[in-house]
Amino acid sequence: MLSIAKVTKNYAAEGGRRPKSPVDVSAPALRGIDLEVGRGQFHTLLGPSGCGKTTLLRSIAGLERPDTGTITLSGTTMFSSDQGIDVSPDRRGLGMVFQSYAIWPHMDVFKNVAFPLTVRRPGRTGAKLTRAEQRDRVEEALAAVGLADYAGRQATNLSGGQQQRLAVARALVTRPALVLLDEPLSNLDARLRESMRFELKRLQRETGVTMVYVTHDQSEALALSDVVTVMSQGGIEQSASPEEVYDQPGSLFVAEFVGAPNLLTGVVEHLADGAARIASEAGTIAVDRCTWQLGDEVRVLMRPEDFIITAAEESADPEERNTFTGVITATAFEGERVRHQVKVGKLTMECHAERHRALSDGSDVRLTIPAERVRLVPGSAASGGAE
Ligand SMILES: Nc1ncnc2c1ncn2[C@@H]1O[C@H](COP(=O)(O)OP(=O)(O)OP(=O)(O)O)[C@@H](O)[C@H]1O
Ligand SMILES: [Mg+2]
Repeated sequence: MLSIAKVTKNYAAEGGRRPKSPVDVSAPALRGIDLEVGRGQFHTLLGPSGCGKTTLLRSIAGLERPDTGTITLSGTTMFSSDQGIDVSPDRRGLGMVFQSYAIWPHMDVFKNVAFPLTVRRPGRTGAKLTRAEQRDRVEEALAAVGLADYAGRQATNLSGGQQQRLAVARALVTRPALVLLDEPLSNLDARLRESMRFELKRLQRETGVTMVYVTHDQSEALALSDVVTVMSQGGIEQSASPEEVYDQPGSLFVAEFVGAPNLLTGVVEHLADGAARIASEAGTIAVDRCTWQLGDEVRVLMRPEDFIITAAEESADPEERNTFTGVITATAFEGERVRHQVKVGKLTMECHAERHRALSDGSDVRLTIPAERVRLVPGSAASGGAE
């Protein structure tokens, strides 16, 4: 329903109005973005600060004018540098929620939500709504976010989470096909942020509205999304389901950004029937699936939760491959599990253990990982580069 093609934006080319970063102000904010967002999708733009997430979102909204490219919404061209089309924000039919979700303190909850209806221009969406129709719409939007009983409350007398829901209701009230959200949960404390995640996802499912959601928090992106698009330096690194981004990072940048403590360097030294042996800095590692060639440099990704950790004195299965011996150097208790750091030769590996199976610091241990859990990631960060 949303198609973005070859969108570029370089603030420096316009004389750099208010450069936020003293570093490379001449680097383009968007380097030729191609992106498809399907109807009813929860689509997240994930990436580090300054990678261009807000610029892309504002370009979709019409608040930022790209240098080149095309943006199409439900078959209607909203922006085209070639055709000289640039539809104004209020005519794009979008809902928006920003990080500073500015509620109007002098209005009650009902008036806050009704506001976009009262200023809505007639045009694409037909004649202005009657008062009764407006009331129905506001009540519907408030009910969707669970604020039906708060309509008469002064907006400033809501909790942080309720104000957040009010902002979402205001974005939904015009029944837009697409809602854009820019880090809407970042002002909330950790616990509220987690519960709002579930609420947002439920709301998106129930209303069927398409959402494009911006965050730099990888766990938020994985928890909420149908599709995660990972951005770096104005470009797209990978666009895939949360499971795929986590299990099969498309680049070293994605692997590091999504959080991979154990990423060893290695070279493909043996290939047979799609499986391979990798000569890594921690010794030979067997993998079930390898699309690389003999001699290629790769990174070996082993997730901390995929290791089986046992005390070294327990007898080992002689058949077992991918076994590393080491010493526990640090342990962090995290509630339902513990995190161990294990010194393996010169390397430090991280692994998780169930809390009741935790071992103490200084223990000699064996780490084992099945070959099907080992992932290979491109060996260099040539495409993007970490911050
Ligand atoms: N109005 C502006 N004028 C000049 N440069 C800008 C402007 N807005 C953003 N930039 C630059 O464009 C790049 C992308 O910025 P953008 O705000 O899109 O990043 P972001 O991914 O949203 O980051 P954050 O997570 O910090 O919000 C940055 O290098 C930034 O400094
Ligand atoms: Mg931003």
